[in-house]
Amino acid sequence: MAENHPKLPCTAAFLLTLFSLISSLAALEPNTFSRHLSPSSLGLKKKEKLSHLHFYFHDIVAGENATAVRVAKAKTTTETSPFGAVAVIDDPLTVSPDIGSKMVGKAQGIYALTSKTEASLLMAYNFAFMEGKYNGSSLGVMGRNPVFSAVREMPVIGGSGVFRFARGYAEARTHAFDLKTGNAVVEYNVYVFHY
Ligand SMILES: *[C@@H]1O[C@H](CO)[C@@H](O)[C@H](O)[C@H]1NC(C)=O
Ligand SMILES: *[C@@H]1O[C@H](CO)[C@@H](O)[C@H](O)[C@H]1NC(C)=O
Repeated sequence: MAENHPKLPCTAAFLLTLFSLISSLAALEPNTFSRHLSPSSLGLKKKEKLSHLHFYFHDIVAGENATAVRVAKAKTTTETSPFGAVAVIDDPLTVSPDIGSKMVGKAQGIYALTSKTEASLLMAYNFAFMEGKYNGSSLGVMGRNPVFSAVREMPVIGGSGVFRFARGYAEARTHAFDLKTGNAVVEYNVYVFHY
């Protein structure tokens, strides 16, 4: 048996539409979990800016002040076949190759040896900045790093603070590598769009 819906009078339908429009602008209605809103309501500017950041990354794997520590490996992982090793890093980022120069932040995260045939890392980490207007803001990086290539490019997949909605890429170039200890200084050029 078909139900009989009386047609709403035109003015009531209009008022209902208007009401739902207004309430959707104001906030989330109870029992809903999403809404559309204008970028300006989050204080976002109309245009994104492009920033270039340049610093040196110190990966210290040896000694009492190591900033990269191996936390796991496979049964088959060896010095000559490092596939399967995983490290956690808290690597200082400085304005010049000298580790004593001004520190602008840390690279915090993990890397894993993910190639059976070459020295190639999966890197998943944050640049946690500590300098000036960037202090407290971060960029998230997730990418492939074949460490013996001259230039490695890794995607910047997001950010926080001044880097909200960030996207871009990081270029890594080895500045110095100590074959004996495995310690490395890596030059980074990071290009990101953000508001
Ligand atoms: C480790 O850091 C401490 C404190 O900064 C320093 O005194 C010491 O010389 C460092 N050790 C090495 C091996 O660099
Ligand atoms: C960065 O922010 C922290 C926490 O607010 C503060 O303690 C620190 O002094 C700041 N560092 C710089 C270099 O501004």
